[in-house]
Amino acid sequence: MELNRRTVIAGAAAAGLAATTLGSTATSAAAATGTQAANGSSGGGKPVKELFGTLADGTKVYRWSLENGGTRLKVLNYGGIVQTLEVPDRRGHHANVVAGFDDIADYVAKSPYFGALIGRYGNRIGKGRFTLDGKSYQLSVNDGVNSLHGGKQGFDKHVWDVEPFADGSEVGLHLHYTSVDGEMGYPGTLKAKVTYTLTRHGEWRIDYEATTDKATIVNLTSHVYWNLAGEGSGTIEDHELRIAASRYTPTDSGLIPTGELAKVAGTPFDFRHAKPIGRDIRAGHVQQVQAKGYDHNWVLDKGITQRPEHVVTLRDPRSGRTLKIATDQPGLQFYSGNFLDGTLTGTGGHTYRQGDALCLETQHFPDSPNHANFPSTVLRPGQTYRTTTIHTFEA
Ligand code: BGC
Repeated sequence: MELNRRTVIAGAAAAGLAATTLGSTATSAAAATGTQAANGSSGGGKPVKELFGTLADGTKVYRWSLENGGTRLKVLNYGGIVQTLEVPDRRGHHANVVAGFDDIADYVAKSPYFGALIGRYGNRIGKGRFTLDGKSYQLSVNDGVNSLHGGKQGFDKHVWDVEPFADGSEVGLHLHYTSVDGEMGYPGTLKAKVTYTLTRHGEWRIDYEATTDKATIVNLTSHVYWNLAGEGSGTIEDHELRIAASRYTPTDSGLIPTGELAKVAGTPFDFRHAKPIGRDIRAGHVQQVQAKGYDHNWVLDKGITQRPEHVVTLRDPRSGRTLKIATDQPGLQFYSGNFLDGTLTGTGGHTYRQGDALCLETQHFPDSPNHANFPSTVLRPGQTYRTTTIHTFEA
């Protein structure tokens, strides 16, 4: 039964095995599979675990390597961070297409959420305040007067429990984190489970789940920074982007939505037909000037859906690498890496300058708890928060 396999996995993980394949098969056979997966020479093998670093308090951070269908993923148990993600170009050459660090100390000290899981609330909540059922809450404030990505110690800065799996044609990790009642000011104990799956077609699927014991708000997302030409290779301004959205949510100067759902037609925010990101990025629109580029929520035309629907396509014309994103969520935060300023050096040894990577965060709208006209982000006891985003890679 599945539980037996999980028990073996948990036991091996507790023993702190480095660079070991975990599973129920004999150690030698399992180790061989693991080596293959680590080298990327095969797909669909069991995830491989190795020591990545140690936090200041002595906590060990592990890195898991997964591969399936030509996609290779390295994930840290710290923040559920996707450290590297490799996919082939049109000639079959793999490149890492996400920004990240080599060193856990960099993730702790200076990461702008590279590759991380974001919770309890993706993006900003104005002044870190909201009212729910007549009660006011003050959240941890970490972005001027506002709360960004869950506050000072969001889900990106916690060690998650990781359970690997490889069943049938899929390979992946279940990540668990329990956020206690009152953490970062949020009401209710929130039990979060995020599953990263690599399918046999090389898709990367994220399934989010959460439950609470008190009424609360929740908006989880993934903060991967993409560069389909290869991490550290320069600007993403020549990437072509299409977003199936006729409206976006303009913001004030603190990047808090005003509440308006503005039309993209006739503005630089119109990505309904694919266009290079750089084409209109210097158009001088007041919304771009205050955000230093694109840093907005697009209101997806499809709205909230039962199943993930394809809403975004990002393509690097040189390599041919194409990312398609499907989601059941109503919003997409497109952030054009405006605050990357040449002070961070990534996994490939290159510094990241403004616009060297971009984020496409599927989620509910920023500051929803303070806008009655935005879809609700309230979660109540007895309900299960469930959302799915699928990344498909083509070349
Ligand atoms: C936000 C940006 C922020 C970035 C990370 C994005 O999701 O929209 O404003 O700077 O995350 O730091």
